[in-house]
Amino acid sequence: MVINLSQNRNLKLFKLISEVAQKNGQSVFIVGGYVRDLIMKRKVPTDIDFVTEGNGIELAKSVAQEISPSLKVSVFKTYGTAMFKHNGLDLEFVGARKESYAEDSRKPAVEGGTIEDDQKRRDFTINALAISLNHENFGALIDPFGGIEDIKAKIIKTPLEPSQTFSDDPLRMMRAIRFATTLGFEIENSSRDAIKKEAERMKIVSKERVMVEFNKIMLSEKPSVGLKLMEQAGLLDLLIPELTALKGIEEIEGQSHKDNFWHTLEVVDNISVNTDKLWLRWAALLHDIGKAPTKKFVPAVGWTFHGHEFLGSKMVKTLFTRLKLPLGNDMKYVQKLVKLSSRPISLIDDGTSDAALRRLLFDAGPDLEDLFTLCKADITTKNSSKQEKFKKNFEYVAEKIKEVEEKDQIRNFQPPITGEEIMELFNLKPGREIGILKEKVKEAILEGVISNNKQEAHDFVLKEAAMLGLKP
Ligand code: CTP
Repeated sequence: MVINLSQNRNLKLFKLISEVAQKNGQSVFIVGGYVRDLIMKRKVPTDIDFVTEGNGIELAKSVAQEISPSLKVSVFKTYGTAMFKHNGLDLEFVGARKESYAEDSRKPAVEGGTIEDDQKRRDFTINALAISLNHENFGALIDPFGGIEDIKAKIIKTPLEPSQTFSDDPLRMMRAIRFATTLGFEIENSSRDAIKKEAERMKIVSKERVMVEFNKIMLSEKPSVGLKLMEQAGLLDLLIPELTALKGIEEIEGQSHKDNFWHTLEVVDNISVNTDKLWLRWAALLHDIGKAPTKKFVPAVGWTFHGHEFLGSKMVKTLFTRLKLPLGNDMKYVQKLVKLSSRPISLIDDGTSDAALRRLLFDAGPDLEDLFTLCKADITTKNSSKQEKFKKNFEYVAEKIKEVEEKDQIRNFQPPITGEEIMELFNLKPGREIGILKEKVKEAILEGVISNNKQEAHDFVLKEAAMLGLKP
């Protein structure tokens, strides 16, 4: 089979690489994801991998030299690779190897090999396709492991015996699940069995690399597909046991609760229809993690998960730390959404007092819309009249919140009287009274004792300060 590259936007570049390799007496092939996506007619990646049966670093340098002598080539001697950027593309060159592909392998000096040696050390047949850029067969597809058939049959399969491929680089187990999820493919049975068997070996892979794959699953159209595959393989239990702890339904005195694990997967899929924000999807994934440790059966009341949102938000930090996820604003955002995830509902149950609405506005601040997106995704009842009712309730709360916000502007709350103004008013130095007075002003506004304006805040501070024995 020959791939017609005549309309390819990179044809000029491929020709140039072909010429340079010919001049050097080297062979050269395009490999990996670029070939896969080209054949699948998907958007091709901007990073293109080239393999030569010879020295990859030398080829990269001579191609770069031909394009422009000032091009900077980055060389990774340990891996025998070199790369440079050109026209918005990341071009990487490597010598064909006989040894394992494993990109993080600490073993240097890989033994040179043929293109087929190199292909068989790759992760999946669909990623082990190569296109020749050599003069004698420019555009020829080299597919020794039936990658084209597997693309047609939508199958993820390893070129070698699966446990060998996975033990070469255990991250490939996550990659198998990631490709299955994003491409809508099935993992072939023996590869699936091998993942189950080798799952424990994922422990030796750095969390950062695992999370890159996990987040690709989270950003896919239907993350539950990958999460289920991870669960079946035992990988989810290894990575996020807080989630698998939510599995199961218990029944006492004829009362049961829903399976919070399967519910969570549904919430993640629901939210993914409405947002591409990674961390909002994470908030959906973690919104119920506090439920396993807080679960209790209270006679005459039923199943309770008292305080699960608060505990859940605390657990987020432990989990992010363990998984080496970012601990800055992204984590705080997830914590906040987990913590507030039941508040809009409880507002409906407890009555929508203005004070409660103002507090929610204050606590959610700029993330209020995202909180509502989460709450709507959380409605997984199959009872359509209940579903309608819940949706209407949310719309009602949203409407009420809008009214309160128009009146009181709490959302981006700025204290109407600043610490400096209070100090000036009473001729005070910085001290704890200032904090106390500021907090009292905020509370009075949220409770509706005073309006959110300067004059009322000023009068209120005078009154409160007098009680503390302060005079203007
Ligand atoms: N590869 C591998 N084992 C890995 C990682 C990569 O065998 N653990 C090989 C595969 O042949 C893959 C190629 O290296 O196609 C390039 O890897 P990478 O750029 O990480 O992935 P892509 O397949 O290009 O896919 P994506 O861009 O979607 O990550």
